[in-house]
Amino acid sequence: MKAIILAGGAGSRLYPLTQISSKQLQAVFDKPMIYYPLTVLVASGVRDICLISTPDDLPRYQRLLGDGGQWGISIEYREQARPAGIAQAFLIAADFVGSSSVTLMLGDNIFSGGDDYPRAISSFEGGATVFAYRVKDPQRYGVVEFDRNLKAVSIEEKPRQPKSNYAVPGVYIYDNDVLEIAKAIKPSARGELEITDVNLEYLRRGTLRVQRLSRGFAWLDAGTSTALHEASTYIEAIERRQGIKIGCPEEAALNRGFLSIEQFEALVAKMPTCEYSDYLRNVADEWHRLMDEQQ
Ligand code: DAU
Repeated sequence: MKAIILAGGAGSRLYPLTQISSKQLQAVFDKPMIYYPLTVLVASGVRDICLISTPDDLPRYQRLLGDGGQWGISIEYREQARPAGIAQAFLIAADFVGSSSVTLMLGDNIFSGGDDYPRAISSFEGGATVFAYRVKDPQRYGVVEFDRNLKAVSIEEKPRQPKSNYAVPGVYIYDNDVLEIAKAIKPSARGELEITDVNLEYLRRGTLRVQRLSRGFAWLDAGTSTALHEASTYIEAIERRQGIKIGCPEEAALNRGFLSIEQFEALVAKMPTCEYSDYLRNVADEWHRLMDEQQ
């Protein structure tokens, strides 16, 4: 399974913050926003990643994330010249995807809790898997309608009159047919290649699986200044309460076995003294304690 993180867009809803840097590089509490979707991928065992962003912002991502080798993963980069739609990601990254299946994550979607996504990745067999999450304001999203047997019967992009309260979050899993489907769809009225049109084609073929996310799952979208602030507050509250960090790729890579404890400690040793590296040092101490106990 390969992964695409889409981290471009105009960023107009976060103006003037986006005058300084791309939306997905803004801080969500104590880390750049992009760390959150990236960590979900690492924690789910996905190690071949392609990040797509604007020509202006791409060098900033490259500086921050490098080739991913420090976390035992591989990150490639591709440019999106202008924001012509989420589904364009599959045209831009077609050579990266090759003959694999692929998961797409929007760089401004933050997920926490629950194991729905890693399970969906490890049990994926074909077709498409998307998710449904109950929200108060479904008209801002792709909205899925279910029949009595909880089977998805329609998906509409930003409907004025939503047929349900179930929004489709910005994380998707597709088989390789997505390349051919994305190539065939036409721009919508707003001039974009819509991800909802890709999902509708899978629905038409009878190969779309819509999985409702469990209650313990948090999906935050950091697309507006208010939503960004709320996401920061949420992450801070959980981190303080539990003494764990959300969205830490180093920790996920260690837990997943992408990094040995020696590689992990060498990485942490290169970081400046700060709350983030203090936390990672504690993770290493805990790791040693657990190993000692097991012996
Ligand atoms: O957040 C989930 C929603 O994302 C879904 O429910 C919708 O079905 C889907 O269309 C999308 O809706 P949005 O209108 O919120 O998408 P937006 O245009 O804000 O783009 C989402 C992210 O993707 C944003 O961080 C910018 C990035 N993006 C978007 C487009 C259109 C790109 O990098 N390139 C693009 O061409």
